[in-house]
Amino acid sequence: MKFFIDSANIDEIKTALSWGVLDGVTTNPSLVAKEGKKPDQMYAQICEIVPGPVSLEVVGLSTKEMVEEGKALRKYGDNVVVKLPMTTASLGATKELAKDGIPVNMTLCFSPLQALLAAKAGAAYISPFVGRLDDISAVGMDLIAQIIQIYDQYEFDTEVLVASIRNPIHALEAALMGADVATIPFKVMEQFAKHPLTDKGIETFLADWKKVTHA
Ligand code: E4P
Repeated sequence: MKFFIDSANIDEIKTALSWGVLDGVTTNPSLVAKEGKKPDQMYAQICEIVPGPVSLEVVGLSTKEMVEEGKALRKYGDNVVVKLPMTTASLGATKELAKDGIPVNMTLCFSPLQALLAAKAGAAYISPFVGRLDDISAVGMDLIAQIIQIYDQYEFDTEVLVASIRNPIHALEAALMGADVATIPFKVMEQFAKHPLTDKGIETFLADWKKVTHA
C-alpha cells in the first residue's frame, strides 16, 4: 500500500520524506488555508520536493472551469494530480482531462456508485472519506471493501485512495483490504512507529548497556 501524506505543511512533508516512506501528497483547500500562505508558493514548493504524485484541488464547479483550472495546475509539475469533487460536472471534466493524459483524483466520495462513476469516467484515483462517514455513524471502512470488490470485479485501473483517515486502525484495515493508497495525516503516520513495548525495550537495553560499560 502506498503512503501519501494528507498535508500542505512543508515541514511535515519534508519529515515524512526523510523517513523514506512517502509515496505522494494530497492537499485540499482547508489544509492549504490552515498554513496561512499563498497557495501558489506552497504548491510550487511541494511539487518540487515531492517526487511522487501531488493532488491539488480545483475550486471551480462547472466542467469548463474544472478542466481549465486542472490544466493550469499542471504548471507546478508533471507530478500534479488534479483533484475534483465528485459531481456530475466533474465526471465530464475527468473524461476531458484523462483524454489529455492528466490524472484525476476524484474526491469527496461517500458511496460505491460514486466510485463506479469515477472509474468509468477515467479517474486515476478515487478518494472515499472514511472518517467523515464514521462521524455520521456509518462504517467508513465498509465503503472501502465495496469499492475494492467492484473495481476488482470489473478490472478498473482506478486506484483506491483511502482518505479522511483519523487513526492507525483505518490505515491497518485499508492495508488488510488491499487498498492501493492511504492518505494519512502526519500525526497518525507518526503513531504507526510507536509502541509502548518498543519504548520499554529501548529503555531496558540502554540501562543494561550502561551497567556493563560503566562498571
Ligand atoms: C483527502 O484527500 C482529504 O484531504 C482528507 O483526507 C480529508 O480528511 P478529513 O475528513 O479529516 O478532513
